[in-house]
Amino acid sequence: MAAQAGGERDQWGSKFGFIMAAAGSAVGLGNIWRFPYITGQNGGGAFVIIYIFCVVLIGVPLLFTEMGLGRFAGSSTVGAFKNTKANKFWMLSPILALSISFFVLTYYAVIGGWAVGYIFTSVFNVDISFAAFVQNPTIVLPLFAVFMVLTVLIVLGGISGGIEKASKILMPMLFVLLLLVALRSMTLPGAMAGIEFYLIPDWSKVTPNTFLTALSQAFFSMSIGWGIMITYGSYLPKKANIITSGLWIGAMDAGVALLAGFMIFPAVFAFGMEPSQGPTLTFQVLPAIFAQIPFGNIVGGLFFLLLSVAALTSSISILEVPASYFMDEKKWSRKKSAWVVGILAFVVGIPSALTAIDGNFFNEMTMPWFQGATVTGFFDILDTVFGTFFIVVVALMTSVYVGWVLDINTVVKHISEGSEGFNKSYMGIVPSKVFVIMLKYIIPVVILLVLLNMVGLLGMFSGA
Ligand code: ALA
Repeated sequence: MAAQAGGERDQWGSKFGFIMAAAGSAVGLGNIWRFPYITGQNGGGAFVIIYIFCVVLIGVPLLFTEMGLGRFAGSSTVGAFKNTKANKFWMLSPILALSISFFVLTYYAVIGGWAVGYIFTSVFNVDISFAAFVQNPTIVLPLFAVFMVLTVLIVLGGISGGIEKASKILMPMLFVLLLLVALRSMTLPGAMAGIEFYLIPDWSKVTPNTFLTALSQAFFSMSIGWGIMITYGSYLPKKANIITSGLWIGAMDAGVALLAGFMIFPAVFAFGMEPSQGPTLTFQVLPAIFAQIPFGNIVGGLFFLLLSVAALTSSISILEVPASYFMDEKKWSRKKSAWVVGILAFVVGIPSALTAIDGNFFNEMTMPWFQGATVTGFFDILDTVFGTFFIVVVALMTSVYVGWVLDINTVVKHISEGSEGFNKSYMGIVPSKVFVIMLKYIIPVVILLVLLNMVGLLGMFSGA
């Protein structure tokens, strides 16, 4: 992103730079840490198939929508709705998106801190179990602080110089390393059971919550529903191709998540671990795989370094949402906005950092959820409310707002700028026409059904 000059809005330096920054935002802990454990908790193969449908049919069109809305309105989340004359009801959507970005940042940076810590435990072969690591506040709190400060510093410096350049080299490296670790994992004795768990659907494991979880995982991972893609879209020049960028971002994001599954599940079964153990899964399994690789400490260290970078390219985009609100709406400087949000997020994140400690107040707190379920732990409560439920609500509101409240033809015309192929006919099919049908009818209806089913109003799969 170029520096703000003379009150003009920041713009991305190049198309490649934008794609890398947006893909950098998308590819992160959501793919490598969250996707495997959510898949493990939701029964494996069937969840993966539902997730892929969510990405292709709902996630990708919503990526176009959010990037298009941001560029169209020329403003980040709140301004994008305000500039397009949203009434009080529709303003709820950007306000929710702001709160999602803020609250998810508070625990995302905790996990980012774990990744940073694991660089050192790997390289120096520190003999510490994951349970001992996360239960020690003198380890996790400083790491959490380091990760948050790094996030703020990068947001302060702008991203075209440092992070964009670094991403161009480090993201492909991460991909290659993921591939290698996945190969090692898949060739472990007993790996086949994991591959089967991951690929062969067992539909009896599907519950109403599975659909919400798959949909929200797609949105979490693609950075949809947080206001991120609206904000990043607002820095896009008119000639940028929103369609090809969106397709690239969606493909890279889903590709990394699916690869992460091939890395984790074969090893989980080979080592006799529990696939449904939750947020600790990736951090438990990876060191066990590295122990089976020559120079595993170096490979592991490099892996966690690249994972930390992937997490940083995401956390900066998350922090950018509330920060850009203060910059655009309150005219604060970038410096003040980034520090205020970063410090507040750190303070609010402390209970999440302490949630892993057995028997601790934050570890034991509970929240009733729909259909008799209970969510336990401060961290999980935040992730359920903001990282799962509200993300889907915002995506629903955005699709209805752009599809029905705004003039959809004007928006499509705008999205087509720089993406001429969008309006061409391919064997009688015009992509922009398909997009309008998806956005106006299919996406809101599907999301609404998923939400109604989750609160128990439809009763689909409820016997499972
Ligand atoms: N989309 C980002 C991730 O997947 C936040 O980690």
